[in-house]
Amino acid sequence: MEIKVIVGDIDKTKAGAIIVSLLEGVERLDGDIATIDKALDGAISQLISQGEIKGKLNEITIIHSLGKLPADRVAVAGLGKQPELSQDRVRGVAAETCRQLRQKGVDSIATTALGAGTAGISPEAAAQAVTEGVLLGVYSFRRHITAEAEYGEIKQFLIVTSHQAERAVLEQGCHKGRILAEATNLARDMVNEPANYMTPSHMADTATRLAETYGLEISVLEREQMQESGMGALLGVTQGSRQPPKFIVLRYHGSDSTEIDMALVGKGITFDSGGISIKPSQGMEEMKGDMAGGAAVMAAISAIAQLKPKINVMAVIPAAENLPGGNAIKPGDVLTAINGKTIEIISTDAEGRLILADALGYAKKLGAKLMVDVATLTGACRVALGDICSGAFGNNQELVDKVIAAGAEAGELIWQMPMYEQYKEQNKSDVADIKNTGGRYAGAITAAQFLAEFVGDTPWVHLDIAGPSMSDKERTYLVKGATGVPVRTLVNLALSLAK
Ligand code: BES
Ligand code: MN
Ligand code: ZN
Repeated sequence: MEIKVIVGDIDKTKAGAIIVSLLEGVERLDGDIATIDKALDGAISQLISQGEIKGKLNEITIIHSLGKLPADRVAVAGLGKQPELSQDRVRGVAAETCRQLRQKGVDSIATTALGAGTAGISPEAAAQAVTEGVLLGVYSFRRHITAEAEYGEIKQFLIVTSHQAERAVLEQGCHKGRILAEATNLARDMVNEPANYMTPSHMADTATRLAETYGLEISVLEREQMQESGMGALLGVTQGSRQPPKFIVLRYHGSDSTEIDMALVGKGITFDSGGISIKPSQGMEEMKGDMAGGAAVMAAISAIAQLKPKINVMAVIPAAENLPGGNAIKPGDVLTAINGKTIEIISTDAEGRLILADALGYAKKLGAKLMVDVATLTGACRVALGDICSGAFGNNQELVDKVIAAGAEAGELIWQMPMYEQYKEQNKSDVADIKNTGGRYAGAITAAQFLAEFVGDTPWVHLDIAGPSMSDKERTYLVKGATGVPVRTLVNLALSLAK
């Protein structure tokens, strides 16, 4: 999709459709919508007075211009009540409107920077939001569908301003929005990809391609190097699979120092059958998405490399398949992680924390100054929070606050969970330093407490994305399937830390 900022008048712009917006409760039209209304001989104001257009959030009315405008159609998009308008609502409105227009066969759309100047939304933020909204909202994953889609493609999206002076800031917002949305869609593609395609080797190949494209440093540790580094937990998880594990490390250098300012660690289980502690078959196909954390950190560091903040970032993705087999680890086995700690396996289905233990330990060994890990870690977190928000756990309140704020800016909701040390009791083992499950209760917290053992006092936040990583339905700029959460949060975090 071509996205461009142009200087001109929206009522003189030629397109399959133009979008104008309306706040709820506004009775006297002014600005662009008033001009368009006049050109349409009062069609919009008539629909308003007849009660058909109210300006409610995501209410979309498509009117044919019948030759009265250069554009074929006008989409009147409701922005909802003025004080409740936000950048995130603008993303959603842009997404919903563009999807509806696509359904009608429209392939070129022009809009203004929706919401700019309202409720504290700057023109730049509005341009960013509409760009993210359209790109995220019309995303689809059709790689394995041979039949043709029922809808076409939106080929051109114009953001129109009548002020030449505003052009540069709109372009800036549009540029940032595009990078963030494309990174999110990259993560979505990886998560939606079936596990027979998205193997650990394929993840490593994807990382190599990203490194070449965006100038990142890459190294991929093979099984032998994992053995040399003492990654006994990761090696244990991969044992039952024929797919070789890959330990992927991507590095972005944005500052003059050689320090690793931030390490992003992402769970890369390309399929989680549960292993010997096998999962029920109902819904197991969803476990192709158990590498969503890994995909998110790969996509985030690619976006960071394009936005170039003055900060050094490392992404670490331990990638493996969790399958049962003659060689698989068994409940009762004891593994030794990279930091020398021994782990008693209670459930082979609690594999995420095992591979993350080695990955966090690895980043810590390299001297990472702070760490954020992202994982579809526990069904318990999904039970607690649903698919609306991620759970955040950490050992440093300042960093937790920064992560939550970065998420809020992205419209990716995050809720902090408790890390009371009393929970540690549940992870105690009789035969090893720690065991890999802490029982049924507080499952998301005991998983986080397990990870904490491999982090020590390095400032750290763990994001459990088991809920929001997938959506079972279309929701504003989310589509059914992978959501790409929390790519944009991680990028915002890097940008804010670089300031
Ligand atoms: N990948 C799963 C968690 C998960 C569940 C993610 C549902 C997304 C949707 C994880 O590896 C797992 O199996 N966790 C177990 C832990 C338990 C054995 C302690 C769980 O949550 O049941
Ligand atoms: Mn599991
Ligand atoms: Zn898992």
